[in-house]
Amino acid sequence: MTEVVHTPRVFSGIQPSGGLTLGNYLGAIKRFVGMQNQGIETIYCMVDLHAITVWQDPEKLRHATRELCAGYIAAGLDAEKSILFNQSQVAAHAELGWIFSCVARMGWLNRMTQFKDKAGKNREKVSVGLYSYPTLMAADILLYHATHVPVGEDQKQHVELTRDIAAKFNHDYKVDFFPITEPVIEGEATRVMSLRDGSKKMSKSDPSDKSRINMTDDADTIAGKIRKAKTDADALPSEVEGLKGRPEAKNLISIYASLSDTTMANVLSDVGGKQFSEFKPMLADLAVSKLSPIADEMARLMQEPDEIDAILRKGADKARAIADPILAQTKDILGMVR
Ligand code: AMP
Ligand code: TRP
Repeated sequence: MTEVVHTPRVFSGIQPSGGLTLGNYLGAIKRFVGMQNQGIETIYCMVDLHAITVWQDPEKLRHATRELCAGYIAAGLDAEKSILFNQSQVAAHAELGWIFSCVARMGWLNRMTQFKDKAGKNREKVSVGLYSYPTLMAADILLYHATHVPVGEDQKQHVELTRDIAAKFNHDYKVDFFPITEPVIEGEATRVMSLRDGSKKMSKSDPSDKSRINMTDDADTIAGKIRKAKTDADALPSEVEGLKGRPEAKNLISIYASLSDTTMANVLSDVGGKQFSEFKPMLADLAVSKLSPIADEMARLMQEPDEIDAILRKGADKARAIADPILAQTKDILGMVR
C-alpha cells in the first residue's frame, strides 16, 4: 500500500447551542484565526446537527447559528480566506456520519466521557444522537480529509476516536484513504474553568451565568463577574509551580496569559506577590479591552442577518465542492453503485 500524503487542511466546529463563552474564544476561535492567518486551508463549521442532540428551540437555533457566524467573523475569521458554513447545508455530513456509525464500535463510544457527563443518570432518556455524536464529528473532519483540528482539551478524546475510525476504515477496506488527523490543543487556556468553581469547565450550559464570560457581555458585566470570581486568600506566586493546588488562581492567570498572548510564567513574573484585589481589576481591564470590540462587531453584524445567511450559503457551496467528491469516493470504496 503506497502512503498517501495529505495536504494540510484544518477543520473545526462549534455547536450553535447557546451563546459563545470565553472558553470557546480562548480554547478554539483564537486558534482558528491563528491557523487561518498562517495561510493553511481552513474550514470552520457551525455544527447545527450536533446541537440538536439535545432539544433546541427552532428560533433560538436560528439565532445562535447566526450569532456564532457573527462571532467567528468578529473575532477575525474572513469568509474569503476560510470556508464558513453551517453543517446541515452540506448533506454529506449526515451520510458519512451514518457510514462511520457502521465503522465505530459500541465499545469505543461507551468510553466517551462527554457522553457520560451529558447523559448523567439519565442514560435511558437521552437521544440516540447524543450517543452517536462522535461518529458525526468524525464525519465532519474526514469528509474534508482534514489533517489538523484545533479544539479545546475537552475534545481530545473525540479527535482520537476520529483517528480510530479513519484507521479502521483504511484497514477494513485495504485503502489509505482517510488521513490520521492531529488534534491541535495549544495555548495557555486549552481548558478555561468556571469562575465559580475551579474544578468545572466554563460552559455555555452551566445554569449559573456568573460562572462564565459570554462574548456578548458588556464591560460592566465582565468586570463584575471577574470581581466576584472565586479565589483563595493568598497572594499570587511568582512562578507557575506556585499555582499547584490553586485551580482558581491558575485559571485567572491562564486567562490573562492567553488574552495577552503570553505565557503564564511571563504573567507571574509581573504580577507575583500581588493580591487578587489588585490583580482582578487588571484582568477585567484586559478582558474588556479584548472582548468589547468583538462584542460590538457581533452586534453590528447581527443587524444584517441576510448577509450572514448569504455567507453561510456561499460557504456551504464551497464546502460541498470538497465534500461531495470525497463522499463519492468513499461510496466507491464501499462498493455502492452510483
Ligand atoms: P462547544 O461549545 O462544546 O461546541 O465547544 C466548541 C469549542 O470550544 C471546542 O473546541 C471546545 O473544546 C472549546 N471549548 C469549549 N469550552 C471550553 C473551555 N472551557 N475551555 C477551552 N476550550 C473550550
Ligand atoms: N464536538 C465539538 C464540541 O462540542 C464540536 C464539533 C463537532 C467539532 N464537529 C467537530 C469540533 C469537528 C471539531 C471538529 O465542542
